Amino acid sequence: MAKTDWTAEERMIVALDFPGTEEAVSMMDQLSGTARYVKIGMQLYYLAGPSIVEEARKRGFSVFLDLKVHDIPNTARGAMQSLAGLGVDMVNVHVAGGKAMMEAAREGLAKGTGAGQKPPLLLGVTQLTSTSRIVMNEEIGIPGSVEDCVRHYALLARDSGLDGVVASPLEVSLIKESCGDPFLTVTPGVRPATSEKGDQHRITTPEDAFRNGTDFIVVGRPVTRAEDPLEAFTQIAEEVKNAIASR
Ligand code: C5P
Repeated sequence: MAKTDWTAEERMIVALDFPGTEEAVSMMDQLSGTARYVKIGMQLYYLAGPSIVEEARKRGFSVFLDLKVHDIPNTARGAMQSLAGLGVDMVNVHVAGGKAMMEAAREGLAKGTGAGQKPPLLLGVTQLTSTSRIVMNEEIGIPGSVEDCVRHYALLARDSGLDGVVASPLEVSLIKESCGDPFLTVTPGVRPATSEKGDQHRITTPEDAFRNGTDFIVVGRPVTRAEDPLEAFTQIAEEVKNAIASR
């Protein structure tokens, strides 16, 4: 299916950042039938393992397994081979791991994917959306602007055979300009105008992320901490539909 055919719901990935399986399953039950994609991150996966992926797939959700792999190429290859066997739809590695690591990750996914199956999309993590310029320059030791680093990482990810990158919604245009439109962007760090910013820095509203040309958003607390998560999801989906229609 061409990516222009993806619906708003298929482009909104709900981050299941919960401390336990029960809360995550309950959230999936509340959202199932409306939401289509969930993100399982380290907290939940390290606790529950492959069974939580199975719970999501049983309910018909596509799964972004957000484990941000960053290791030597041989280990990254093996990790991806294992993850491909879980039947997830999207996985990721840190671009900071370098080209050889990203290419090895790609090979691992191909090896772990069953005959006739499509391998999961492989994304690169550029700079975390919680990283400010000061943190990047003074703590991590990367000079220059966050945008320059993101552009460099995105090009490196594309040249290493990745399908796209995870980045701030503020960086979508520069990524698309540098890497071309087919190179996917998945953008966390979205906040509806009415909700709290929390620890995220480089943010936009969900609509603006799509107006900027993103392919997917990741939305966590604005849905999962809402009094009525289904209502919150539906409301954001309505706004996203308008933004997609107008671009
Ligand atoms: O609750 P919130 O909407 O901030 O959740 C965003 C999700 O996206 C979290 O699970 C976070 O780990 C993830 N993420 C991020 N920034 C990145 C990559 C992933 O916020 N660059």
